[in-house]
Amino acid sequence: MLKDSDLKTVGIIGSGQMGTGIAQVSAASGYNVIIFDVNQSQLENGIKNIRLNLDRQLKKNKISSLDCENIISRIKTSSLIKELNSSQLVIEAATEDEKIKRKIFSDLCPILNKNTILCSNTSSISITRLASQTDRPEKFMGLHFMNPVPVMKLVELIKGITTDESTFKVVKIFAENLGKKLVISEDFPAFIVNRVLMPMINEAVYTLYEGVGSVLAIDQAMKLGANHPMGPLELADFIGLDTCLSIMTVLYEGLADSKYRPCPLLVKYVEAGWLGKKTNKGFYDYSGEKPLPTR
Ligand code: CAA
Repeated sequence: MLKDSDLKTVGIIGSGQMGTGIAQVSAASGYNVIIFDVNQSQLENGIKNIRLNLDRQLKKNKISSLDCENIISRIKTSSLIKELNSSQLVIEAATEDEKIKRKIFSDLCPILNKNTILCSNTSSISITRLASQTDRPEKFMGLHFMNPVPVMKLVELIKGITTDESTFKVVKIFAENLGKKLVISEDFPAFIVNRVLMPMINEAVYTLYEGVGSVLAIDQAMKLGANHPMGPLELADFIGLDTCLSIMTVLYEGLADSKYRPCPLLVKYVEAGWLGKKTNKGFYDYSGEKPLPTR
C-alpha cells in the first residue's frame, strides 16, 4: 500500500492545457513529473507554454530564476507510455472521450507498479465505470482540476464505488500539497462544477440561438450583471466547445432529462470544427488583434 510520503514522481497523460497545467503545479510543489503524449509536437508546445507561464511569474517577481530552472528541471516528457512506470501516481488528462481513455488504461496498467494510484481528470465521465476498465478499481479515483490550473484554486475529488479509503487519503494530501482547496463530489454526471456551469453555458448558447441577445450582449450581461470574470460564450471558447458539448451530452444521457439537451447551435459549431480558442475560432474569431464575435 502506498503512503503519501512515498509519492515522489507523478505521471501525466496528455500535454494539452490541463495536462501541462497539472504538470506545472506538481513540479512547483516539488514532485518529479513525466508528461506522456503520443504527439511529439504537442509535447513541445506544452513545455513551451509552461515556460511562458513561469516567465510571466518571474517577471512579476512571484518566483526566482532559480525556482524557474528547478521547476523545469523536474519535468520530463516522453512519447513512450512505458516511461510512466516510475510514477507512484498517474493522472490521465487526455481528451474527454471514453474510448480514448479506455485504450490508454489498457496500454498503461500492465506497465505500472501494482501500488501505483491512477486518477482521471475527467470533467464528467463516471469514475466508477472508468475504474472498472482498469486492473486497479480500488486504486482509481477522479481528480478534477479547473482551467487555467495554475490560477484556479479548486480541485474536485471524486471517489468511485470501488475506490478505497487509503487511495482517497493519498490523493487528498497530494492535492493539498499543490496548494489547492478541495471539494468532494459524489460520482454523478459532471460532478459539482460542471453540473452547474455547463447548463449555464448551454443556456447562453440558446440565448444566442433564439436571438435574445448577440454574443457581445450575452457576455457583457453576465460579466457586468453577475460579476463573472468571463462571459459564458468567452468561457465556452476558453474551455473548448467540443469539451462543453461532450459534458452536456454526458448530462443529457446520464440524467435522462431534456433540460440538459445540448443547444443545436453548439453542435453546429463543433461540426464546423470551430472549437474555440484552441482552433482560433468559436463564438469569437481570435485571428486578429482583438477577438471578434462570429455571429
Ligand atoms: N495559465 C496560467 N496563468 C494564467 C493564465 C493561464 N492560461 N491566464 C491568466 N493567468 C494568470 C496571470 O498570469 C495572472 O497572474 P497573477 O495574478 O499572478 O498576475 C492572473 O492569472 C490573472 O490574469 P490576467 O490579469 O491576465 O487576466 P484576467 O484577470 O482576465 O484573468 C482568468 C484570467 C484567471 C482566466 C479569468 O478570466 C478567469 O478566472 N476566468 C474564468 C475561468 C474559469 O471559470 N475557469 C473554470 C472553467 S471550468 C473548468 O475548467 C472545468 C471543466 O472541466 C471544463
